[in-house]
Amino acid sequence: MSCLAMVCLSRHKVKDMNLRCRVALMTLPAPDISIRPGTPADSAAIGRILADGWRQAYSGFMPKSELGPRIDPDYRAREVGAWLSTQFDPNAELLLVAEQAGHVTGFLAARLGDRNDVGSAAQVTLLYVAPEHQGRGAGRQLLLEAAEWLKVHAPGPVSIGAFEQNPFRSFYEAIGGVVVKAVVVRVDAREWPVVVYLWPSPEALQEGIRA
Ligand SMILES: CC(C)(COP(=O)(O)OP(=O)(O)OC[C@H]1O[C@@H](n2cnc3c(N)ncnc32)[C@H](O)[C@@H]1OP(=O)(O)O)[C@@H](O)C(=O)NCCC(=O)NCCS
Repeated sequence: MSCLAMVCLSRHKVKDMNLRCRVALMTLPAPDISIRPGTPADSAAIGRILADGWRQAYSGFMPKSELGPRIDPDYRAREVGAWLSTQFDPNAELLLVAEQAGHVTGFLAARLGDRNDVGSAAQVTLLYVAPEHQGRGAGRQLLLEAAEWLKVHAPGPVSIGAFEQNPFRSFYEAIGGVVVKAVVVRVDAREWPVVVYLWPSPEALQEGIRA
């Protein structure tokens, strides 16, 4: 979580254009994004977004051998399908999707607990927006809605882990997340540094997003 050859040719120009496009998009009123619970019928769309997200966010530092099937949309769709149809526990887990014009453009998963031992009541475990829909508010809206669920089911600190080298993790700092711990996560044979962000409560997460 490659187009690196192309990006390396003019990384700064592309980054600059990307930034300007996103700034322009963020100044527009929020487009018609709706948030709803995800279902097994969303597995293919979620699988595609997850595979694209790993390719986009992680191929700059994770070798192709580690990315492996994790950037294959079909593999991811099967993985998500199996999770949602056999393991998903609605009492302890949340799955939300963002939709625009009838298409799933992003998703978020959260679960109760304190996986990284940081004192959290729950953690957001997955947050991915399709690359072509980023910078339009879907990520923020997914988190705002997740916080509503967390207020009821896990009224306490909220954590989110991100690979230390993920170029997108500044998103969490921009919405008030504070790094409270560094851990490692194993992907196949290798361990990767992960930083854990914490918000004191779902309300604080919402305030950070709205600030
Ligand atoms: C991080 C992510 C979930 C944010 O969702 P989003 O819908 O793009 O975010 P929003 O439109 O609500 O908010 C915009 C913010 O996202 C971040 N962002 C969006 N696109 C970005 C890009 N191409 N590069 C860097 N940051 C980006 C910025 O912080 C931006 O804030 P800014 O416009 O004030 O600079 C999304 O960009 C994404 O899926 N990234 C790839 C996968 C990933 O890294 N997921 C997190 C795993 S821990």
